[in-house]
Amino acid sequence: MRIVLLGPPGAGKGTQAKQISETYKIPHISTGDIFRENMSNDTPLGKKAKEYIAQGLLVPDELVVDMVADRLSQDDVLSANYGYLLDGFPRTVFQAQALSQINAKRDCELDFAINLEVPFDILIERISGRRICPTCQATYHIKYNKPKIEGICDLDGTPLYQREDDKVETVKKRIDVYQEQTEPLIEYYQNKHKIININGLQDMNDVFENIKEILSGVN
Ligand code: AP5
Ligand code: ZN
Repeated sequence: MRIVLLGPPGAGKGTQAKQISETYKIPHISTGDIFRENMSNDTPLGKKAKEYIAQGLLVPDELVVDMVADRLSQDDVLSANYGYLLDGFPRTVFQAQALSQINAKRDCELDFAINLEVPFDILIERISGRRICPTCQATYHIKYNKPKIEGICDLDGTPLYQREDDKVETVKKRIDVYQEQTEPLIEYYQNKHKIININGLQDMNDVFENIKEILSGVN
């Protein structure tokens, strides 16, 4: 199963991706998570990415495409029958075209582009209340998805943190960038008959139920 998750910052991509990946046993590949891991390890890629991420801008296409191409050649993707769930990639038409070429080399294509629709005014509240576990990347929300003990990950007891790019000003920039550079992908995938629009305003469990209905018929 090959899926990409589309949607603005804070739409719930990471939240749904965790569940989809566990249920359908396909690797969850989040370009944002890969960049954050590189930033926290201070790698050359992390240093470059930080210049852009801190300002709410996209990391340049060449850097992202090479990184994803490399990730998609790893064993977990191959042993899932070239299966993957991409979260946060593609984000530009250039990236979408690159993905299509990567797939073509393996003689396969995408099953769906799942687009989580959430109005922009809701996104800021979602993102400013988000807390993340640095150990397992689980995502919580101070109001909508509280951990059992405030500020602590349910799964491994690690203290949660807030992302640096989740400050309101940076979030606004990320939303502008989304509108300019990523929203055109909805039409791109519509033209390829791949798009599935899901109402991301629902409770997160209902969003997942909708996604399962769509995926139930796919291998
Ligand atoms: P990335 O990490 O991909 O960030 P994003 O796309 O901005 O998305 P978010 O992680 O903010 O939100 P989400 O949709 O995953 O929402 P979540 O599930 O956490 O990218 C970060 C940066 O890296 C980019 O700005 C860019 O600089 C760079 N980058 C990454 N990929 C790139 C690429 N391909 N090309 C170039 N640059 C790239 O949910 C949000 C909150 O809401 C959580 O607290 C959650 O608990 C809560 N929530 C979720 N669902 C619901 C619900 N249904 N109801 C109520 N609350 C909910
Ligand atoms: Zn954790």
